[in-house]
Amino acid sequence: MPRSVDRTPRPDRGQPTVALDQGGAMPLVGLGTWQMTGARCRTAVRSALEVGYRHIDTATMYRNEGEVGRAVRDSGVPREQVFITTKLPPGAVGRERRTLDSSLRALGMDHVDLWLVHWPPRGRALVSTWEELLAARDRGLARAVGVSNYRTAQLDELIAATGAAPQVNQIPWAPALYDASVVAEHRRRGVVLEGYSPFKNTDLRHPVLAEIAARHGVTPAQVVVRWHIDHHVVVIPKSATPERIAANFDVFGFSLTDEELGRIDRLSGTRRR
Ligand SMILES: NC(=O)c1ccc[n+]([C@@H]2O[C@H](COP(=O)([O-])OP(=O)(O)OC[C@H]3O[C@@H](n4cnc5c(N)ncnc54)[C@H](OP(=O)(O)O)[C@@H]3O)[C@@H](O)[C@H]2O)c1
Repeated sequence: MPRSVDRTPRPDRGQPTVALDQGGAMPLVGLGTWQMTGARCRTAVRSALEVGYRHIDTATMYRNEGEVGRAVRDSGVPREQVFITTKLPPGAVGRERRTLDSSLRALGMDHVDLWLVHWPPRGRALVSTWEELLAARDRGLARAVGVSNYRTAQLDELIAATGAAPQVNQIPWAPALYDASVVAEHRRRGVVLEGYSPFKNTDLRHPVLAEIAARHGVTPAQVVVRWHIDHHVVVIPKSATPERIAANFDVFGFSLTDEELGRIDRLSGTRRR
């Protein structure tokens, strides 16, 4: 079943969200926090919340959950208005519950909005771990649960074994990686596609992006973020630079035409930076 995407700006936050079956509304734009720790991470998350982000992506492996939690508390933005994702390291198989407890302690929160398996443990879908995530959801420790870096066949394994589809699959995504069949496969299963590394996988000087950006009076990076939104794909650009954090979120004043989306889609397979 395709999920409904609310593309109308929300009066409270002015940003589009995707509805999760459990877990409420997931903002389509979030802040990535990989490779940011300590004060750098705190400052970045604070900057993001100040300019309106309400979605932060962290992971046990990023070793910054404490900083993320502190930045949210210090921001004054109510916890319930911020969508927090963290991820189970595949090495923590067998210790799922304890690992989530540690994440929650570090974050200083009683639940996360989304808990993901960071990547398939030893390359396998691993139903037993998926059942642990579902149990954590049932206990209210994670509003929604999902996976990351799973292939479609692995999603199907989890669905066949438990009847419960991951709510989200977080995978590398960018114009150069665009694949309409991957989008369709996720939609058919009711799994929200969340993209990561939107810029690392993009040549931001590509003439197609430059031309479309000039037409809208924005930057190629903003076009890349908007391209995700217009495809209803969640995007979590990372930046440690307050100006870039703000610019990456300043994408709600324009949208791409179908012709522009098509031209960007056709960058699929182009050489990466
Ligand atoms: N599930 C997984 O396995 C997985 C894997 C990778 C990433 N992720 C998640 O996805 C997030 C995003 O991916 P990522 O961190 O790999 O890479 P990314 O967001 O594609 O790129 C980050 C890089 O782009 C730069 N940048 C940011 N805004 C820019 C702009 N407007 N113009 C030009 N450059 C800009 C950043 O520099 P500055 O910081 O210096 O501004 C940084 O060097 C991660 O932080 C993490 O939360 C998940």
